[in-house]
Amino acid sequence: MEIKTENLEPKNIYKLMTSVIVPRPIAWISTVSPEGINNLAPFSYYAGISSDPPLVVVSIGSKEPGVKKDTWRNIEETGEFVINLVTRDLLEEMNISSIPFESEIDEFEKTGLTPAPSTYVKAPRVKESPVNIECRKYEIIQIGKMGIILGQVLNFHIRDDILNEKGYVDTTELEIIGRLGGANYCLITKENTFELKRPDKR
Ligand SMILES: Cc1cc2nc3c(=O)[nH]c(=O)nc-3n(C[C@H](O)[C@H](O)[C@H](O)COP(=O)(O)O)c2cc1C
Repeated sequence: MEIKTENLEPKNIYKLMTSVIVPRPIAWISTVSPEGINNLAPFSYYAGISSDPPLVVVSIGSKEPGVKKDTWRNIEETGEFVINLVTRDLLEEMNISSIPFESEIDEFEKTGLTPAPSTYVKAPRVKESPVNIECRKYEIIQIGKMGIILGQVLNFHIRDDILNEKGYVDTTELEIIGRLGGANYCLITKENTFELKRPDKR
C-alpha cells in the first residue's frame, strides 16, 4: 500500500505521522504569560536536535484559526520556557493539563502540581517532575499553521539519585512516558530496556 500525502486530508496525515513516528518524547512545557499567569501543557511533536549548541524543537498548533495555543504565545512573548519530563506517576496531571483551558487558567492550580522557581527563566518548573530543562527561545519559524519553536537549553534540573557516574540520566529508574498514535502511550521500563554497543570499525 502507498499513501500519498498530496491526496490526504491533514487530519488523516496526522494519524499516519503520529502512529509511525513513534515513540515520541513528551515535552511537558511550563511557561508564564506576560500577565504573570502560569501555563502547562504537553507536546509530543518534540525532539532534541543538537548538543552544540544544545537545541530542542517543538511544534505547536493553534486553538482555532489565527489563535495560537497559550504555550506558543507565551514563548513568543516572553522568550522562555521549561520542559518537564512526564513519568508514570504524573500521567493523570499531564492529561488534565492538555485540556484546552482559557488563557486565564493556571494549569498548575487545575492539576494541583507545585510551581518551583527556575534559575534562568521566569517560567516555573514542575516540582514533582524529576527532570526540568530550562530553555530560551532561539527562533520561531511559522510554517503553515504551525509554530516550529527552536529552544536553546540553558539549564538542567535533575533529581540527584538518577544521574549516573557516566553523566547519563538512568531512564530505567524513572518510568518515562512516550507517545504513540491516537490515545496510546508507552512506558520505558527496566525490563524493556537493553544495551547495544556499536560494532568495532573494520
Ligand atoms: C501527549 C500529548 C501530546 C500533545 N502534543 C501536541 C503537539 O505536539 N503539538 C500541539 O500543538 N498540541 C499537542 N497536544 C495538545 C496540547 O497539549 C493541547 O492543545 C493544550 O491544550 C495546549 O495548551 P495551551 O493552549 O495551554 O498551550 C498534545 C496533547 C497530548 C495529551
